[in-house]
This record gives sequence, structure tokens and C-alpha cells, in this order.
Amino acid sequence: MLSTVIAFSALAIAANALAIPVDPAHRIELSSCEFPNNTANALNMYSCSTSGDTIEVNWVRITDLNGVDMYPIDPRKPFILELVAFNNGPDYEDNKVDVRVFEYQKSWQTGKCGWAEIPTFGALNGIDGCDFAKNCPLTSGDLDLKIELDLSPYSNIISMLTANSAIQLQISMKDYNPGSKHEEITCVTAQLKIN
Ligand SMILES: *[C@@H]1O[C@H](CO)[C@@H](O)[C@H](O)[C@H]1NC(C)=O
Repeated sequence: MLSTVIAFSALAIAANALAIPVDPAHRIELSSCEFPNNTANALNMYSCSTSGDTIEVNWVRITDLNGVDMYPIDPRKPFILELVAFNNGPDYEDNKVDVRVFEYQKSWQTGKCGWAEIPTFGALNGIDGCDFAKNCPLTSGDLDLKIELDLSPYSNIISMLTANSAIQLQISMKDYNPGSKHEEITCVTAQLKIN
């Protein structure tokens, strides 16, 4: 009787061990992290500007193409990042925006959660800020910048993102005035939940 129980238990353990590598739900659970900075409920943003940057971003909003707030964000659909900002510098005739994408993941090496960069192969570099917002030049003083982000053509990027996870967009805007050295004029980090 006892040996039967032991044999059965051993079988159950073996079956469980075998099941782990082929059970994707279990794998996701093993690698999941808490949502950092309350991103389960709302966008979190902060400045990543360095001392030379002239534009101060006060807040960020994410909407669909009709200007309607949305949260969490569906990365398969284009969305608009609205940056409400103040320009302490000169007028900018032209600017370009580089976006880096990170996902909040558990490191397989350390077991700790942190931001891992998702390679975008330059797909989100050099976005023409003027072209979309049609509000150039960026004049001194108050600014309301709208940048369209459309990841939908980049299914290879989207396929690297985990559904229902936190991602981080690092948005750096560069001066493209004639004669400029393409210096950064502002940097913003936005942390948000995707579905
Ligand atoms: C949370 O936000 C703060 C700034 O508001 C930032 O300094 C910190 O690094 C963020 N934490 C994570 C895990 O991103």
C-alpha cells in the first residue's frame, strides 16, 4: 500500500516536472513582476533631461488618434503622446525624436525585476516631431507637443513585448535647427501598462 502511494507520488512529481517546460501559463507566472510605480493604474512619467536641455516637460498624456485618453495602452494601435512643456531655449524650427523601449522583466541571472531594453533596430529613431504635430517652430515659452507613435508596422517589436506588462518609453527630442549639432533639448521617461 505504502509503496503504491510512493510510486504514485513519484509519478505525480515526474508528471509535474515534465509539465513545467510545456506550460506557458506557468512560465509567465515564474517570470512576472509587480507593476512598478503604480503603472497598473496610471501612466508614470518623469524627466530624464540633462543639464543642457532647454525644454521642461510638466506632464504627459496618452490618447488615441482622436484625443481620447486610453489606459492601458494597446501597442498594436497608433497612439499619441502629448507632452505639455515649457521651452526655456530659442525657437526650434525643426526637431527629431528618438524613442527607446524597455520592458519590466525578471532577470534570469539575478531573479530581480528591472527594465530590459527591447531592440527596435532604429525603427523609432528620428521621428519628425514637426511633421506630425504641425506646431513648429517650437517657440519659447509654453508648449503642447503631440507625437504620434505607431508600433503597428513593427510586429517584430510588438512580438517581443509581453501582454499585460509594464513598459517604459524613453523619449529624447533633438534640435534640428540649421547649424545645430542635434543636441538633446528634452528627455522624458514614460512608464505604462500595455495590454
Ligand atoms: C519610479 O519612478 C521614479 C521617479 O518618479 C524613478 O526614479 C524610479 O526609477 C522608478 N522606478 C522604476 C522601477 O522604474
